[in-house]
This record gives sequence, structure tokens and C-alpha cells, in this order.
Amino acid sequence: MLTIPAQCVAESRIAELDFNNIEFGKIFSDHMLVADYKDNEWQSPQILPYGNMTMSPATSALHYGQSIFEGMKAYKDANGDILLFRPLENFRRLNKSGERMCMPAITEDIFMKGLEQLLRLDAAWVPPTAGCALYIRPFMFATDDFIGVRPSASYRFTIFTCPVGAYYGQPLKVAIEPDYVRSAEGGAGFAKAAGNYGAALLPARKMQERGYHQLIWTDAKEHKYIEESGTMNLMFVIDGKLITPPVSTTILAGITRDSVLQLAKDLGYTVEERKVSIDELVEAHKAGKLQEAFGTGTAATIAQIATIHYNGEDMDLPAVEDREISNHISTELDKIKTGETPDTHNWVHRIRL
Ligand code: COI
Repeated sequence: MLTIPAQCVAESRIAELDFNNIEFGKIFSDHMLVADYKDNEWQSPQILPYGNMTMSPATSALHYGQSIFEGMKAYKDANGDILLFRPLENFRRLNKSGERMCMPAITEDIFMKGLEQLLRLDAAWVPPTAGCALYIRPFMFATDDFIGVRPSASYRFTIFTCPVGAYYGQPLKVAIEPDYVRSAEGGAGFAKAAGNYGAALLPARKMQERGYHQLIWTDAKEHKYIEESGTMNLMFVIDGKLITPPVSTTILAGITRDSVLQLAKDLGYTVEERKVSIDELVEAHKAGKLQEAFGTGTAATIAQIATIHYNGEDMDLPAVEDREISNHISTELDKIKTGETPDTHNWVHRIRL
């Protein structure tokens, strides 16, 4: 078992945190894990006080975008144990993103043992409050100071954490994007690569200026089929069936997405993973059959969509409290994550303090 040397903070900053009023992504826990890759191997990781990193202006991640990340969450159960939700899936997805971006794979030992040790040290930062969690951000970036275009030979892997509340505070108004493209087949859309998010900021801001919280991406070839939203996969309930676009090279394989589909099947709902066209949504709405729409993501959890805009029209959806399928699944998922219900799929990784 790897035991990671830790330089601990002299005094915790936790007194600055109001557990009853946590904003997403603004306050960071006391420590971070850092491991460097050089000479073709990962060097021993360390735990350090959370803080700035110095780097050369020529750091290649800043110029050519070899930078990938993950998002995961930890909860506390009634005994005070820390519960991680499907962390090995994040580990695997990080390495898939890394492969696409020509970066080395992180080892399971560094990822999992590093995570466990970091969480033990910063256990007090895991919010006990319902609806809150400790958000965990593993990421990796290229560190060569070299400005020729080639894969870096050195990298840094880091994990830091932050207590969070809801990412979206209200049901969302989203608009279908008719022009911009997030991702095309054969591209890197399935990777959790920093550049995918950077390139989405301008189209998202334009939609926000028109009064929508987020946009819905459509396929790059025809702008005909629904892909995903800014920070979430998308699901619809049409005529009692839960329908979502299949994962592909253009869509992120969401872990919440996968969990929701599994739970929907467990609960006896009909699930269809297939292409969803804009026309289908518009027709279903006209016929009164578009009953629910929601996003799924680690940060977003299950985020209800109140309105979908397309081609000059707002399609208003039924009230959130009337949405049987998403509310049912959301409640069950929360109970599994917080240890209130048996974990029949072995999704929870428990850290006993
Ligand atoms: C997540 O859901 O964890 C994400 O990474 C989405 C976003 C906050 C970038």
C-alpha cells in the first residue's frame, strides 16, 4: 500500500466555510495531491497544502492544450464514513481522455490511494448537509517548457477538492444551438479535455445573453440530432419512455448518465438509447408527449429543464413536481450516494475514518 508523504497545513481554513451556504467551486479544502511524470514514469506523489503552483511561461499545456480533468463527488453517511461514488469510472475515463490527448496513463494506485489519503486528511471538509458534497477535481496537464508542437514529455497530475452546493440553483431554460459545433465524429468530444470547455464558452455566453442558462449541442453534420448540454448529458421522457442519445466519439460518457439509465431499468422504466432529433422533440411537445427533460452530470446531478428554445419558440415543459421518472431516479440515486439504501451495483467506495 502506497503511503504518501504529506506536508500538512499549520492551521486549517475550515472556519471560513459556512456549511449552510456553500457556493459551487469557490472555496478549496486545505490540501492537494501532486504527482509528476518525468523520465517515462510517475514519480512518488505528495500531499501539499492547497496553493499556487509556479510554472514556466512556456509550459506546453498553456499553448497546445494537453490538459484533461475529471469531476467526482464524496458524501458523508450517517456514521461519518466518506462515500465516493464510482471513483474507478472517473479513473478510467481520465485515462481515456489522456490517451486521446497523447498523455500518459495515471496509475490506479496513485489515483485511488492518493484520493483516499487526501480525503482522510480533509475529511472535515465533506459537507454533512443534504444537497451538498465534496467536489473532487483530478486533473493532468503537460509541463514541458518547450514551444514546439509535440506531446510533452513531462506532466503533472493533481487532485484538489472543494465543498459544493447545487451547481444549478433552479430549473433551466436551455436553447438548441443552430450554428456552433462542439464536437464532430473523429474529434475529441468524448474526452474531458479542457479545450472542449474553452471552445464552448462563446456560444454559451451568446445564449446566456438571450436569457438561456445553457445551450443544447446538436450534431456537426446536420444540426439535426441532440448531443449534450454544456455541463451535462441530456435525457427526455417522451410518452412515458426515458430516451437519451447514445454515447459516441462526440459525446462525453457521463457516469451520472450511466447510473441514471441503470436505475431507470432497475425501477422498471422503459429506456431507449438512440438518436433524438430536434423534430422529434418539437412534435412530441406539440402532441403533449414531451413530459420531462433533464441533464445529468456530476456537478449538475439531475438538473431539471423547464424550457427548451428552438427556432424562435420556447417549449415550456410540465412542472418539475409532476415529473415522475426523473424525480424517482433522483431520489434513489441520492439515497445510494449517501448510503441510505443498499448499494446493489457496488457503486459506493467507502472510506472508514
Ligand atoms: C462535472 O460535472 O463534474 C463537470 O466536470 C462539469 C463542469 C463543472 C465542468
